[in-house]
Amino acid sequence: MNILLTGGAGYIGSHTCVSLIESGHRAVVADNLSNSSAEAVKRVERITGQKVRFYKTDLRDTPAVEEIFKSESIGCVIHFAGLKSVAESVEKPLAYYENNLDATFSLCEAMRKFSVKNLVFSSSATVYGNPQNVPIKEDAPVAPFNPYGRTKLMIEQVLEDLHASDPSWNIVLLRYFNPVGAHPSGLIGEDPADIPNNLMPYISRVAIGRLDEVRVFGNDYPTPDATGVRDYIHVMDLAQGHVRALEKLSEKCGLFTCNLGTGRGYSVLEMISAFEKACGKKIPYRITERRPGDIAECWADPSLAQKELGWRAKYGIEDMCAHAWRWQSMNPEGYGKE
Ligand code: NAD
Ligand code: UFG
Repeated sequence: MNILLTGGAGYIGSHTCVSLIESGHRAVVADNLSNSSAEAVKRVERITGQKVRFYKTDLRDTPAVEEIFKSESIGCVIHFAGLKSVAESVEKPLAYYENNLDATFSLCEAMRKFSVKNLVFSSSATVYGNPQNVPIKEDAPVAPFNPYGRTKLMIEQVLEDLHASDPSWNIVLLRYFNPVGAHPSGLIGEDPADIPNNLMPYISRVAIGRLDEVRVFGNDYPTPDATGVRDYIHVMDLAQGHVRALEKLSEKCGLFTCNLGTGRGYSVLEMISAFEKACGKKIPYRITERRPGDIAECWADPSLAQKELGWRAKYGIEDMCAHAWRWQSMNPEGYGKE
């Protein structure tokens, strides 16, 4: 039985593809390459020594999605595909609602038609908005405050309704905290098309000399060193969480919502300092204004994942930075130039 990874050429999808194959699964990737490169799929094949069936498909093209279900024996779907930039979603809300929601409708329609009712969905800690308490448990109030976050919550709600209408669906909603790092081989990693929005790829590009300095967004937060605190999680730990989520589906779990985080937060300055140790260079940085919409601190209570999925994060901050740096230094231009 094959696992379909929508958005499987992307950052988290490509790493999950490796973990799935290494756990004995067969992977089929569908991606329109709007924010990724087919080279990532080739690199997954290089790491695993296995062929990956790849479809360059836009999920909103329902007949094309149905063709995949006709051609491949799909047992489960992991739905990564979506647009993910908070800032871009504020500028182009319609594009975000249209892409993320329509892609999901089209996918679920095809799954229903072919009686494939096992789904893992990439949700986000962004659904919690500005948390009232940390660590955040899954039953914390949800209140996303940007269009991207709202698409994630809306899709969660659509999937809840789908499960309520037909309880034979098994759906795992995974709320990721801040994925960072890369496969230890340095062959795959995060490769943002433009100037990175996120902290870790931004630091990496400063370290490699493609950007001048890190801007630290605010040093007046009520946190230990006054900079923002997040729960950074190694992308290979996240990938392993998906392998466990598939096992959960096979237990006929119904609808299950779960955080994937480490349970500990690091500040922006701690991240810069850890990266300096990993790359052996000084990372120039400058304190600037807060970035609008940022929260002070956010980290997960990961105990439900431990109890229900038998999963916990294994990698620490040193490996997150070392592996991100290995990827960046082996691929200074990302997938663009080998
Ligand atoms: P990514 O952009 O690297 O991967 C997403 C992939 O989806 C890309 O390869 C893109 O080409 C593809 N895609 C987008 N729209 C599509 C469509 N209509 N049809 C087919 N393919 C389409 O992002 P990522 O970091 O790997 O994130 C994967 C998922 O996890 C996303 O849904 C994202 O919202 C979610 N997530 C990411 C983070 C993060 O910080 N990286 C945090 C929480 C949740
Ligand atoms: N930061 C900087 N300078 C930068 C970039 C970020 O100081 O150049 C700071 C931010 O202010 C924040 C921290 O670094 O304090 C992390 O910022 P990121 O942009 O890396 O991550 P966010 O927590 O803002 O958001 C990310 C994803 C969202 C996702 C969320 C929770 O971008 O899509 O994690 O999973 F929803």
